[in-house]
Amino acid sequence: MRRKIAAGNWKMNGLKASIVELKELITLTKGATCEIVICPPATLIEEMVHVAGDSGIVIGGQDCHWSESGAYTGEISAPMLADVGAKTVILGHSERRSLHHETSDYIRTKVEAAWRADLSAIICVGETEAQRDSGDTLQIIKDQLDGSIPDGATAANTIIAYEPVWAIGTGKIPTYSQIAEVHDFIRVQLVQTYATGEDIRILYGGSVKPSNAAEIFAISNVDGGLVGGASLNATDFAGIVTAAG
Ligand code: 13P
Repeated sequence: MRRKIAAGNWKMNGLKASIVELKELITLTKGATCEIVICPPATLIEEMVHVAGDSGIVIGGQDCHWSESGAYTGEISAPMLADVGAKTVILGHSERRSLHHETSDYIRTKVEAAWRADLSAIICVGETEAQRDSGDTLQIIKDQLDGSIPDGATAANTIIAYEPVWAIGTGKIPTYSQIAEVHDFIRVQLVQTYATGEDIRILYGGSVKPSNAAEIFAISNVDGGLVGGASLNATDFAGIVTAAG
């Protein structure tokens, strides 16, 4: 049985005042059985780890560098995230792949860095609208999985997030059978390649809201969600947590 995950990606949103959302979320989600993850901007990680305390809510980063330290102005390393209490890190988000030209090979080196620092990696994959329209979705997903996941992926150190680029922040979501097709395909790839592939969680991301979360989370091989906009507000995100169980 894979425990579901409700993960929030705050992206470049949130000042210290936003930590109140986490406090409210802790209150609203008492008794939840799913795993709750929040990835705030790096500036808030340390304080949010403190606020999360023993609530069970996991705090993570949104990216990390492949190197432990060095002359990389503006970057944050995996040991730095671990040092302030992060337990996980999102890697290969489509906004990193497109806006920062990150390739799957490059993302793989970051995943290795995350693992070395004892962080789990939430590795994102997803096709653009043009790739879907031309029938390339499954090949794109396979290439991204093959390129981005290092050898040694386990259910403990890896979570996959399927985020169709065209569904992010747009309010558009694939049909439930399109989501099932990709998640089932990812499951087959994971089972073929990794000993614990059956247990690696696969999250769906892209316009998840309290109103559609329960139906999405009920789809075959959907083990929860990676949520952007709707994770910024405690009440909305708590609705999604409830849908995850
Ligand atoms: P939205 O939930 O805002 O569509 O964002 C999804 C996402 O990119 C999460 O990483």
